[in-house]
Amino acid sequence: MPDDDPAAWWREGVLYQIYPRSFADTDGDGVGNIAGITAHLDDLAWLGIRGIWLCPVTVSPDADWGYDVADYTAVQPGLGTLDELDELIARAAERDMRVILDLVPNHTSDRHPWFLESRASRDSPKRDWYVWADAKPDGSPPNNWTSSFGGPAWTLDEATGQHYLHNFLSEQPDLNWWNEDVRAEFDRILRFWFDRGVAGFRIDVVHMIVKDRELRDNPATTDDDHWFVKVQGQRRTYNSCRPEVHDVLRRWRAIADSYDPQRVLIGETHVFDYQTLASFYGEGDELDLAFNFMFINAPLESDELRGVVESTATALGDRSWPVWTAGNHDNYRFPSRWAGGNPDATRAALMMLLTLRGAAFLYYGDEIGMPDTEVSRERILDPVGVRFFPVYGRDPERTPMHWSPRAGAGFTEAGVEPWLPFGDFNAVNVAEQRHDPDSILSLTRDLISLRDAIPDLRRGAHTGVDADPGVWAWRRGERVLVAVNLSGAAATVPGARGTVRIGTRRGRDDERVDGTLRLDGWEGAVVWLDDPR
Ligand code: GLC
Repeated sequence: MPDDDPAAWWREGVLYQIYPRSFADTDGDGVGNIAGITAHLDDLAWLGIRGIWLCPVTVSPDADWGYDVADYTAVQPGLGTLDELDELIARAAERDMRVILDLVPNHTSDRHPWFLESRASRDSPKRDWYVWADAKPDGSPPNNWTSSFGGPAWTLDEATGQHYLHNFLSEQPDLNWWNEDVRAEFDRILRFWFDRGVAGFRIDVVHMIVKDRELRDNPATTDDDHWFVKVQGQRRTYNSCRPEVHDVLRRWRAIADSYDPQRVLIGETHVFDYQTLASFYGEGDELDLAFNFMFINAPLESDELRGVVESTATALGDRSWPVWTAGNHDNYRFPSRWAGGNPDATRAALMMLLTLRGAAFLYYGDEIGMPDTEVSRERILDPVGVRFFPVYGRDPERTPMHWSPRAGAGFTEAGVEPWLPFGDFNAVNVAEQRHDPDSILSLTRDLISLRDAIPDLRRGAHTGVDADPGVWAWRRGERVLVAVNLSGAAATVPGARGTVRIGTRRGRDDERVDGTLRLDGWEGAVVWLDDPR
C-alpha cells in the first residue's frame, strides 16, 4: 500500500487486536506473553496487518485481567519486560507494523498506590484523585448510579466513612477527572509511551471518564432507548458522555499531534446514538477513531447493518472516519454470535468487514473463523462471567489462539494446561488453513491484499445499491461493487457488469458478470465493474 498519507496505516490498513494472555506462550506457563507476539509478527505481516492493539500489558492484580491497572508505566511481570515491549515495537516497525497500547484512564486498581494513599484518610493529598462522597442521610449510596458490571456503583470505605465510585468492579475505583493533577499525570503517561515509539492508544471506556460534578441521579430508560441501554436499567446521563470529556480529549489530541508521526487515539465509545458517537471525533481535534457498538450489537441482517452503516456515515460526515469491528474481548466471537457456526456466513461477514468504508479491526482468531470456546463453570476467570453465570461471560472469546493442530495448539508446549481452556484447534487452526487456498484464512488474506491493491476499496465513497431482500450491496468509489447475501436464500443484484475479483466461494474468482450478479445463500462477491460510474 502506498503511504502518501502518514495516517494511511490506521485509516486504510487493517488493524488487529491481540489479547496478550491468549496469543502465544513462549515460556510454557500456559499464559501468552509479549515475546509470543514478537514471535508471530511474520504471520501478521503475511496476513497484511498494519497495526496491532494490545489489550493491557501494564501491571495489574488482574481482578479484571489487566483493566485494573496498578502501574501505568511498567509491564506486568508474567507478560514480559519493558525491554521486550521495546523489542516488539522495533521488530514490528521493521515489518511496517505499528503497536497500539490500551490506556485505562477511567479507573485504576484498588491496589494502585494512588488509591491506597487516597483511601488512607479524608485529608490525604490524593483524596481528591478519586470520587468520594457521603452516604445519603438514610445510609444508602450517594446516588442511584449502577456499575456496568451490576450492583451499585459505590462501595463504602468503613475506615473513612465515605463511599468511593466504581463504574466497574469495586476493585476498580474511578479516578476524578476534575482534578488537574490527575490530568497532568495522564499527560505524563501518554508521553512516556509515545516517547518509546508506541503509535497510539485504544482508550478504555473513554466516554465515561468525567462524571457530573454534582453526582446527580440517573434517569430511568424509556421505550425509545436502544436495547443495550434498557439492559443497563438506567440512562447513563450523569456518569457518561459529560460535555467536559471533550476537554480531556482535546488535551490528549494536542499531545498526540505534537509527535512525528502523529499518534493515533482510538476510543472505546460504548454509546448507542450516532450523534454522540460523532461527537467524540470533535472538530477533528479529539479521537481519530471511535469504536461503533451499534454495529457490533446489530444482528447479521442486511437491513439492520445497512441502517447502522448509513446512519454512522450521515452522523460522521466527510471529516470523521468510521471504524468497524465484528468482535473483541468483551463480545462473543462473530463466527458464533453472528454466523451461528455457519462458515459461509462467517466468510460473508469477513468480506463485509474488510470492504466497508472505514478502518477495520480484526480480533485475533477472526482470520481463521475461530468460534467461541465453551468454558465450564470451574474454569471461568472473567469476574463478569462469575457474576452472571450461566447467562453471560467474556471467557469464551478470550481462549488461546489456535496456531496448529499439534498438542498445545502451537500456543504453548505440549502437555501444558493453558490459563483458559483450548477450543477445538483440530477443526480450526492457522497451520492447516494457511496452505489451503479455499480456507477462511486465505479469504481474509486475499481480501486484505485486494484492499491494499485497489484505492477505491481503501478510500472510495460508499454508495448503497439496490438488491433483492436479504442482500446488502454497495459501491466503493467508481469501480468496485460489493454484495453480501446475508440470508439463506439465493438472490440477485441487478445492473452489475464486470469481473468477480474475490468471491466467498473462491471458485467464482475471475468469473464474468453480465448484467446480473447471482448469489447463493450466504454468498458474497467483490466485483470490479467494467465501467466507472
Ligand atoms: C472496557 C474493557 C473491558 C473492561 C472494562 C473495565 O469495557 O474493554 O474489558 O472490563 O472496560 O475496564
